[in-house]
Amino acid sequence: MGSGVVFYGSPQIKLCMSSSLSIGARTVICSDSDYTALALNHKTKISTIRAGASIEIGSDVGISGACIVCAESIRIGSEVLLGANVLIVDSDFHPINPVGRRHSDDDTQIGVAPVVVGDNVFIGTRATLLKGVSIGKDSVVAAGAVVAAGNYVDGAILAGNPARIIGSVYKE
Ligand SMILES: CC(C)(COP(=O)(O)OP(=O)(O)OC[C@H]1O[C@@H](n2cnc3c(N)ncnc32)[C@H](O)[C@@H]1OP(=O)(O)O)[C@@H](O)C(=O)NCCC(=O)NCCS
Repeated sequence: MGSGVVFYGSPQIKLCMSSSLSIGARTVICSDSDYTALALNHKTKISTIRAGASIEIGSDVGISGACIVCAESIRIGSEVLLGANVLIVDSDFHPINPVGRRHSDDDTQIGVAPVVVGDNVFIGTRATLLKGVSIGKDSVVAAGAVVAAGNYVDGAILAGNPARIIGSVYKE
């Protein structure tokens, strides 16, 4: 953990064996609605669910009541803003194949792909980032957007479900 990391309230952090979490300097993690204008549905929760999983959170990031769950790799750049109640996952958690889904313990049947959030990205409240998403620097993800796998260019404004690029922050 970098220097000057601030916690408002206690987050839930749950790391499985042989996984890692790094948090950059001056990042602020809020888990209590008393410290933010919006209402948080839950504490910030950060967890790894498989050995080898790696979560990297950059410096000067702001997080409010997010849920970040990692099976393989989630990288969040510096100066990223995660609005209230954002969800970021790199796994489907369960197989798409219906046969034996309920009790499957075969990880190879479960979709997993790394998630990358570039520097200075602003993610609106209640947005969801799913496995395989890579968002370019400076982008904005609209409130409530559900972003599915893809490489999204720098400065994209993403909105909707499934999220589409509706503009660029670089254009007037
Ligand atoms: C994405 C956002 C920044 C765009 O703001 P804006 O540039 O002022 O855009 P507008 O309100 O003029 O809307 C532009 C278009 O995007 C659409 N749009 C805006 N927000 C949207 C959303 N959340 N989901 C889907 N479409 C959206 C509008 O319907 C409009 O579509 P149209 O051109 O077909 O009419 C803003 O809508 C937003 O979601 N802000 C996030 C707020 C937030 O969650 N803050 C964090 C709190 S912790």
